[in-house]
Amino acid sequence: MHLTREEEAILNGESGPTLQKAMEIITALGDIYKADSLVPIKSAQIAGVSYKTIGDAGLEWISDLEGKVVVPSILNPAGMDLERWREMGIDEEFAARQTRIIEAYRQLGVRCECTCTPYYIDPALASYGDHLAWSESSAVSYANSVIGARTNREGGPSALAAALIGKTANYGYHLDEKRVPVITVHVDCHVSGADFGALGYLIGAQVGADVPMFRLRSRPNDLELKALGAAMAASGAVALYHVEGVTPESDSYQAPAETITIERSQIDEVFEKNCPEEVDLIALGCPHYSAEELEAAANLLEGVTMNKEVWICTSRQVRDKNPDAVHRIEASGARVFVDTCMVVSPATERFGCVLTDSGKALKYIPGMCGVGAGLASTRDCLKGGDID
Ligand code: F3S
Repeated sequence: MHLTREEEAILNGESGPTLQKAMEIITALGDIYKADSLVPIKSAQIAGVSYKTIGDAGLEWISDLEGKVVVPSILNPAGMDLERWREMGIDEEFAARQTRIIEAYRQLGVRCECTCTPYYIDPALASYGDHLAWSESSAVSYANSVIGARTNREGGPSALAAALIGKTANYGYHLDEKRVPVITVHVDCHVSGADFGALGYLIGAQVGADVPMFRLRSRPNDLELKALGAAMAASGAVALYHVEGVTPESDSYQAPAETITIERSQIDEVFEKNCPEEVDLIALGCPHYSAEELEAAANLLEGVTMNKEVWICTSRQVRDKNPDAVHRIEASGARVFVDTCMVVSPATERFGCVLTDSGKALKYIPGMCGVGAGLASTRDCLKGGDID
């Protein structure tokens, strides 16, 4: 891989041990994936924030780093709402260690807004054609597919390394040739809302890390694209997809000859197979809810009282800009938690079965929380709370 004289100097330790370590991570990945050079990035989104997932070793690693990030950098969800953690059932020891992780990132100049939907809080973080180093898989999918930016699915350490250097290795989805679709997904029915999570859940398992091109009968909105990409990134490793006539790069490609056809019965089957009899937590907001989704939930909960625990996860900024929706949601007994989610928080582990409207959460909750999970539309999830 070609390095400039300045990059070589950083690698040789001339800018200190933190930047040397960061450059070692980036160049090691570049060598493995045969990158030709480094490419400047517009922003970084850094996973590896929840104490549940990184533990003491991760805390120690971040705390040992010095200096500041050189591009706008933002954190993925943490293991708790940084203010309302007691309400989630988080214990003091976990809270103390989680707080230290956040402080360690803050010392490095990272914005401690913990969200997997950074595009809702600062559109300047990613625009069409920008190179990024983002790590949360649904954010990566959204950036590549819906925004038309370019990022690999970075690990937490490599995203942080890229944030410190301001560059990442130029391979994978940074290159035109890796963005070409290789399989067409023909969806032979109308799909809407949570159907997109079920569709992504099905397709990710079939295509793995390939780039699919969707042919749909209806035109999905950005919320539906968010749900589709998140589910495909969880059941498979899809980091980029196209939707004919909808996503920004789709016009550049022909639909590939190899085709998968999906029918209504297959989507219905995902809901039927994942319809638990007993649910004790309803968890929405994977990926973090937008203002529009909060408003829709508030409308569904208007004038009702929930008799089950209901969490709605969003970013702090979306919550703060929508106080009326939050107030109406919480009047029902449901709670709006920020900075965290039902997958990366240990608080979910005390429940028996979680009902969600997200194909991604359906896939991850059993594996990461050891808890059963079911899938339903947002409306049906909230009905599952036995609205009085
Ligand atoms: Fe976001 Fe957590 Fe889902 S990080 S995509 S809400 S698993």
